[in-house]
Amino acid sequence: MNSFGRIFRVSVWGESHGNSVGVVIDGCPAGMLLDRKEFKEDLQRRKGGGVGKTGRIEKDMPDFISGVFKEKTTGAPIMITFDNVDQNSDSYETLRYTPRPGHADFTAFQKYGGVNDYRGGGHFSGRITVGVVAAGVIAKKIISPVTIEAYLVEAGGFVDPEKAIREAQKKSESIGGIVECRAKNIPVGLGEPFFDSIESLISHGIFSIPAIKGIEFGSGFASTRMFGSSCNDEFVDITGKTVTNNSGGVAGGITNGNELVFRVAVKPTPSVKKLQKTVDMKTGKAVLISIKGNHDQCIALRIPVIVEAICACVLADCLLIEHLVPRIRYN
Ligand SMILES: Cc1cc2nc3c(=O)[nH]c(=O)nc-3n(C[C@H](O)[C@H](O)[C@H](O)COP(=O)(O)O)c2cc1C
Repeated sequence: MNSFGRIFRVSVWGESHGNSVGVVIDGCPAGMLLDRKEFKEDLQRRKGGGVGKTGRIEKDMPDFISGVFKEKTTGAPIMITFDNVDQNSDSYETLRYTPRPGHADFTAFQKYGGVNDYRGGGHFSGRITVGVVAAGVIAKKIISPVTIEAYLVEAGGFVDPEKAIREAQKKSESIGGIVECRAKNIPVGLGEPFFDSIESLISHGIFSIPAIKGIEFGSGFASTRMFGSSCNDEFVDITGKTVTNNSGGVAGGITNGNELVFRVAVKPTPSVKKLQKTVDMKTGKAVLISIKGNHDQCIALRIPVIVEAICACVLADCLLIEHLVPRIRYN
C-alpha cells in the first residue's frame, strides 16, 4: 500500500502531474525542532537539472499543513505538501494507449481499468519520492547519533558517470547504476525475527522506490563464492566489533553494532528516445515509440538521498519500537 512503518509511519500521496504531491508522517515524537531550512539540502540532492537528470525542475518548497506548530513537532500527524508546477503533460495523451516498455503504464492501465492518471507516470512517477525524502529528513533527526550516507558507486557499468552518460546519449539511451549505503553508530538489536528482519524491512522500503531492481547486504552475492571461514566476520571484542563486515552489520536479521552496509541496483530509465516496440492497447497493433519530453537519463544520480531516507525511516521505526527514542523531546 502507500503507507510504511509501524510507529514511524510514512504515507505518500499524489501524482506526477497533479496539483501537488506529499507525505503524511504519523508517530513522530513531539517537541522536535523542525525548520523548513533543514529540508533544503536533501531536497536539493533529489532535484532534477544538470547532466543526466530531468529538465523538470520543481521548487520543492515543503509546505507544512499539520503536525508542526511554532517550529516544533506537536505529536499529531505531520502533513507536508509540494506543489507541481513544471510539468508538461502534452506527450502523455499519445502514451495513454501505447505503454512505454519498462514503465508502469501497462500494469497501471490493466490494474485500474485505464482510469489511472497516466500523465508523467501518475502515482508511479519518481516525483512521489520527494515526500519520502522529506520524511527522511525528519527520520534522520530522530535516529541521531546514527548517521547514514549513500552514494553512487557506478553508472552504466562505469565508475565515471559523466562518461557513461555521454556515451549513452550518443545512442539515445538511458543507463542504470549502483548505489551504496552505509549507516554508522547503529546499536545492537534492531530488527525482529522472522519477517521483520532488518534486511526485510530495509528491502521492503527500498523496493518501494521506483526503478530499483536489486539489493544486497554486506558481501551479498559475492559471499556465495567465499569459504565459510572467510565469509564469517571474526569478533574483536565484547561489543561485537568484527574484523571484516561481510554480513553488512546484520546477523539473524538483527543489527550487530557494526556498520550497516547495503547496495542497491537501479535500472536504466524506461523512457528512451531510441525507437522501441509497443502495442496499441485499442487496436492490438504493433507500434514503434520514441519517448520525448523531460526524463532522467540516469535515475541512479538522484537515488542516493532517497535510499538514505528509506534507511532512516526504517531505523527510526525500529528505534522507536525498542524505546530507544523518547516520545517527547524538550529541545
Ligand atoms: C527519482 C526518480 C526519477 C525517475 N525519473 C524517470 C523518468 O524521468 N522517466 C522514466 O521513464 N522513469 C523514471 N523513473 C522510473 C519510473 O518511475 C519507474 O521505472 C516506473 O515507475 C516503473 O517502476 P519499476 O521500474 O520499479 O518497475 C524515475 C524514478 C525515480 C525514483
